[in-house]
Amino acid sequence: MTMPDAQTATAAPPPVIHREDYRPPDWLVPDVALDFALDPAATRVTARLSVTRSGAHNRPLRLDGDGLTPLAVRIDGEPQADAWRMDGAALMIDLPGDAHVIETEVEIAPEKNSQLMGLYASGGMLCTQCEPEGFRRITFFPDRPDVLSRYVVRMEADKARFPVLLSNGDRTDGGDLDDGRHWAEWRDPFFKPTYLFALVAADLVANRDSFATRSGKEVELAIWVKPEDLAKTEHAMAALKASMAWDEKAYGREYDLGEFNIVAVADFNFGAMENKSLNIFNSRYILADPDTATDVDYDNVAGVVAHEYFHNWSGNRVTCRDWFQLSLKEGFTVFRDQSFSADQGSAAVKRIEDVRALRASQFPEDAGPLAHPIRPESYMEISNFYTATVYNKGAEVIRMLHTILGADAFRKGSDLYFDRHDGQAATCEDFVTAMEDASGVDLARFRLWYSQAGTPRVTARLEHEPAGGQARLTLEQGVPPTPGQPSKQPMPIPLRVALYGEVTGQTFGGERLVMLEDAHQEILFEGIGERPVLSINRGFSAPVTVVADRSAADLAFLSAQDDDPFARYEAMQQLMVDTLVRAVALGEGDHRPVIEAVQETLRNAALDPAFIAEAVLLPSESFIGDQMPVVDPVAIHLAREALRRDLGQELEDEWRASYAKTHANRYEYTPPAKGLRRLKTVSLGYMAASGAPDASVIAFRQFRDADNMTDRQGALGTLVNSQWAERDEALKLFYDRYRGNDLVIDKWFTTQALSTRDDSVAAVEALAGHGDFTLANPNRVRALVGAFAVNQKGFNDLSGRGYRFLADMVLAVDKLNPQTAAKLIPPLGRWRRFDEARATLMRAELARVLATPGLSKDVFEQASKSLG
Ligand code: ARG
Ligand code: ZN
Repeated sequence: MTMPDAQTATAAPPPVIHREDYRPPDWLVPDVALDFALDPAATRVTARLSVTRSGAHNRPLRLDGDGLTPLAVRIDGEPQADAWRMDGAALMIDLPGDAHVIETEVEIAPEKNSQLMGLYASGGMLCTQCEPEGFRRITFFPDRPDVLSRYVVRMEADKARFPVLLSNGDRTDGGDLDDGRHWAEWRDPFFKPTYLFALVAADLVANRDSFATRSGKEVELAIWVKPEDLAKTEHAMAALKASMAWDEKAYGREYDLGEFNIVAVADFNFGAMENKSLNIFNSRYILADPDTATDVDYDNVAGVVAHEYFHNWSGNRVTCRDWFQLSLKEGFTVFRDQSFSADQGSAAVKRIEDVRALRASQFPEDAGPLAHPIRPESYMEISNFYTATVYNKGAEVIRMLHTILGADAFRKGSDLYFDRHDGQAATCEDFVTAMEDASGVDLARFRLWYSQAGTPRVTARLEHEPAGGQARLTLEQGVPPTPGQPSKQPMPIPLRVALYGEVTGQTFGGERLVMLEDAHQEILFEGIGERPVLSINRGFSAPVTVVADRSAADLAFLSAQDDDPFARYEAMQQLMVDTLVRAVALGEGDHRPVIEAVQETLRNAALDPAFIAEAVLLPSESFIGDQMPVVDPVAIHLAREALRRDLGQELEDEWRASYAKTHANRYEYTPPAKGLRRLKTVSLGYMAASGAPDASVIAFRQFRDADNMTDRQGALGTLVNSQWAERDEALKLFYDRYRGNDLVIDKWFTTQALSTRDDSVAAVEALAGHGDFTLANPNRVRALVGAFAVNQKGFNDLSGRGYRFLADMVLAVDKLNPQTAAKLIPPLGRWRRFDEARATLMRAELARVLATPGLSKDVFEQASKSLG
């Protein structure tokens, strides 16, 4: 079988699509009726499209297809043999009039669909994934988000194998057929693009509930899972209802249909999908119970459920005109889900987690060969642009608008946006214009955040003139060059700033919002009677790097005094980073200031344990590497371990005390209990780092006696990084206990892939041969291969074995699932950040990938850009 989207190394590279080439559709499809005769081996799809010519032109109707052969084509009810032709994979039809009814028939094989795009089989069920361009793998259609249609879907299938038949909208009809088959009809009254179409045929059970909207409409809710998973759906259901209430309150958005269905599936290319009223989820973002899911898993379930639900307005009611506008729905929706989660627990800790994630995934992207603006200018394969930049930096851009305009004007802007564009396919420009019109604030220069890639670098210098009681803050900004954008303009950067008196510990006049607009700017503060300490980018008000050159003493002061929790965390992180970067450079460092600052934080009874746990954690090895001109993975690891050991030894009493304080608790899922669990495992990590002789016993006891997965996995992580005798026993016990539970076995793979021991490359190579490893399940691939690629020390092993392993996996996965393969490539594209020896090895692997015949365009684009 030839894969239609495969190309050989000698073939021409895939065409590049440019944003500026956008043209409105020639033909619209206001109504579509789909008829599915479902069968995993051979599904017959009949599509009836009412098409209307848009504008004055005589261009043919173009129906996208991918791997489809038309078995029949009818125009206005008449079978046609030669009124159509194929243009590559697309079906072209010349039509005389302005309105016609086109019918096509195709046959597809869901069980052979290993790409998991279009209609595919997973564990005996049939389901769809269409975003961004999967619908064309189901039937011929203008598969672009600015063609909006009303859908009627009729499905029939074997009743015993597929008792549940779901699609978008409401079920309007159905019944039994002869020969053990049955059928159902669903109608979605809302106009929607192809990427929001969904269908599920399965043998599942539902957790059912209902929600009364604020206008008194009753919505039937159902979360569909395998029978054995039913008990793990309560948390997702609670999150769904909380999301529905939150969107009414925070954004005035009410749900608009009588049903809302969620289906969990084990084989899924990413997190979840917001199909209109039929969300389909990777089961890892639905299923949770204390024995199998960590607190982080619980938070992710709630966050993703909220995210997909919020798309009903930010994505579905108002959708995207073209895929360059992806951040219109994703950046805004991530901002919305972040705000929701912040309201459910500790907003400070949520902000710290979000910034940590941004720095771990988006900052490196912005600094590397795959850098792109949140609204990209071009792509070969749009699936490669579901990135941390489009999602997470996109969310930061929306957050900056919120900061600049203020909550009230922001809400007016979002109301105007939803009113103005309801039922339309809109652009990022439309969103900014609505914000501008509602607030009266000129956002002309703010639009640079949509067009310029790269993380701005802000330098801040504070000078005090005690005589005049003045302080002068000098700010400079620069945006580094990125591929295709050698020089940049200064961006408007909102910086929340406060000055603290170093003696009084009070701010001078509280916080102010400084808009840095120019390359160079000076701000004068009056009435500054004592030496001020600078607190800047509080709350991480802008997604920038700040270089402020503050002394260790000033950072320690802020880490203890700042009343903005993020700034407090940030000061501690900066102190740790400065210490570690110096230690790597000089081979030795003064650990005292960090130890004292950590001690002060640990002893502060007024602080939330969840915050303490975040604040006392050292920055990751990768983040330390990102601060250095050339990453030295081994030196970074050693320096960080040395600091961990000193912290562990010097503060042994504190770690034991906070461990003891949290140890006795019985499991409950509440923000305070979560915070204590987090602090407990962080304390355990430091006790292990100290080399205390009883640490292995304590770790193993926590592992064995845990009444929840957070404690168990936390202890396992510590054990796996150790040389203790208990290590292998714990791994074996964990495996035996959870064998057959794929989501937990994923953790077993990931924990080992992240090991900082010297044998991690060999261990990962061996795990790829384990009977439970499979390339067919994206979660499993990410659990082992994706996790290992962010293990800075193991992956960058000087032997080059880590790089070779990753390239082997990319090539193997690409044959089955190009999207998942392409997502594994970026770590190899970081070669410029490493020494010559490693860079050469990484480039060689990228070149080997590129020289392989039959590469998908997904992998071709990522590998060729990464090689640079
Ligand atoms: N729209 C989905 C979400 O963020 C994700 C779709 C991802 N698609 C992809 N091809 N990567 O909620
Ligand atoms: Zn989304």
